[in-house]
Amino acid sequence: MTSSIVIPDAAALADAARRLRAGELVAFPTETVYGLGADADNPAAVRRIYAAKGRPSGHPLIVHLANADHLEHWARDVPAEARALAAAFWPGPLTLILPRAPRVNDAVTGGQTSVGLRVPSHPVARALLDAFAAQGGRGIAAPSANRFGHVSATTAQHVADDFGDSVSLILDGGASDAGIESTIVALTTAQPVLLRPGAIDANAIAKVLGSPLRLPGANAPRASGTLASHYAPKTRARLVADHALLPEIDQHLSRDESVAVLARLAQRPADFDGGWITAPVDSEGYARVLYAALRELDDAHADTLLIEDVPDTVDWQAVRDRLTRATH
Ligand code: TXA
Ligand code: MG
Repeated sequence: MTSSIVIPDAAALADAARRLRAGELVAFPTETVYGLGADADNPAAVRRIYAAKGRPSGHPLIVHLANADHLEHWARDVPAEARALAAAFWPGPLTLILPRAPRVNDAVTGGQTSVGLRVPSHPVARALLDAFAAQGGRGIAAPSANRFGHVSATTAQHVADDFGDSVSLILDGGASDAGIESTIVALTTAQPVLLRPGAIDANAIAKVLGSPLRLPGANAPRASGTLASHYAPKTRARLVADHALLPEIDQHLSRDESVAVLARLAQRPADFDGGWITAPVDSEGYARVLYAALRELDDAHADTLLIEDVPDTVDWQAVRDRLTRATH
């Protein structure tokens, strides 16, 4: 079996939905990153996700829904804040962590008492969820479609590169628009908690809530994106302040070590012949290309990947989070 990348016309979507209902895995595009989907009501199918990713079983998955009407099916309690955030940001890149309904299987929640839910906005994800619902499905559990700990996938080809033939069907919806994962907000305690900064700015969420988000404390729910090392390229990577980038490159080269560079403001030296990508100067543009750039620079097989640091402001929070973990 080899993985096949298909253009998602109506027949392919119906086929994908049928495969999901039969317990198979299907990779699909979302507006954030590609997801590796399974029927969230089928524990055996969900366990296949963990096996394919090499992901430890205690790490819960996000359940993707066609719309907010299905919230009660998954969540025992839907507080007013959840309704307000859903109304403001769904469909879109926001994941809500809510107290789970008793029927939600442990394979999805990693045995936790909460469940992660999101309604994606990518037209192919929505069409897949609709086709899945037409066949009786209620939610698609999907982590990012990458091997555990590796850089997330923002194109169908990235998914194929990571999984080879262990995923039989990949729906191709082009390059993901946001390029970075959803923002995760937990509504399981009195005050909303920002579990993972993401495609929606924390300030925009705080505005809807009318109060700032708390940061996770010691007993916050587990989230693999919150591990110190995650989203990591294979090449040893380091964050370097912008003024230190060119001297660092020189130091490496003088020791006969090869370097690849993800730059932002720095100019490529005329005599530099290693891998070099200049990312956009704005945070949204940067997020859109980040994972593809890390994958491409990895292919240079340099000894070290140097990443020029980004601003320490709220709009860069999600990118900074990914870069910090990628370079841990
Ligand atoms: O943008 C996204 O969120 C993408 C697309 C495919 O939707 N998905 C994604 O999934 O990033 P994943 O599994 O790579 O990251 C989801 C994060 C994990 O860190 C997981 O631990 C956390 O969400 N999570 C899921 N359910 C949770 C729960 N009940 N409590 C706490 N964290 C949860
Ligand atoms: Mg992930």
